[in-house]
Amino acid sequence: MSMNKLTGIRACVFDAYGTVFDFATAASRCPDIPEQSRAALTTLWRDKQLQYTWLRTLQGRYVDFWQVTGDALDFALDSLGIRKPGLHETLMELYRTLAAFPEVFDVLHSLRRSGFATAILSNGSPAMLEAAVAGAGLSGLFDAVLSADAVGAFKTHPKVYQYALDRLGVPASAVSFQSSNGWDAYAASDFGMRVVWCNRYGQQRERLPGAPDREIRTLAELPALLSRAGD
Ligand code: 2OP
Repeated sequence: MSMNKLTGIRACVFDAYGTVFDFATAASRCPDIPEQSRAALTTLWRDKQLQYTWLRTLQGRYVDFWQVTGDALDFALDSLGIRKPGLHETLMELYRTLAAFPEVFDVLHSLRRSGFATAILSNGSPAMLEAAVAGAGLSGLFDAVLSADAVGAFKTHPKVYQYALDRLGVPASAVSFQSSNGWDAYAASDFGMRVVWCNRYGQQRERLPGAPDREIRTLAELPALLSRAGD
C-alpha cells in the first residue's frame, strides 16, 4: 500500500483491545498461569470472546463486554483444564487494567499536538474502558472514549461505527480508524472511514468487504501518515 498521506483527517479513532491495550498482559501477569500455557490461554480467550460478540449480535442477544469476556475466559480455562479457586477473578481484574503498547502514549501526544481529535471506539463496556485508560496512564489523552454498549450491538455492526461519527461530529471521510484486528479494520473501511490497519500480529489480508487504506506494524508509524489539510 502506498505510503503517501491520508488527507483531510480531523479525528483519529482507535480500537481498544489489541490496538491500544495488550490483552496478552492479563495471562502474562498472572502467576497462576504456567508459562507454557499463557499463549494458548490468551489466544483461546480472545478468539472465544470475539466469537461471542459476533454470535450475540447476530442473535440479538447483546450483553456487555465484561460478561462476554468472563464467559469466554471460563470456556478457555475449561478447554485447557486449568482450574483454581479465584483464578477467574484474578484474570478478570488483570484484564481490567491491561498494559498499553509501548508506543501509544507518545503517539497520542504527537497526534494531539498536531491538532487531531483522538478517541477510542470499542466493544468494551464504559467501566472497562474507563479502568483500562486510567490503568494504562492514558487519562486525558482521548477526547472521547466510546463504547458499543451505547448502541447495544458489537462491531462489525455499522451502527457502532456510526455512533463514533455522531459523537465526534465528523463525516466518515475525516476519520482515520486504527485497529490491529483485520475484521474490524475491513468493516470500518466498508463503513466509509479511512483505515490504517495496525497489523501487529502479521495477519493475512481478509476476504471481506472494504480494504484498509494503509497497513503499519506499530502505531509509531501513524503520525507521519496523516494530514489535517484538505486534498
Ligand atoms: C474492541 O476493542 C474487541 O478489540 C475489540 O472493540
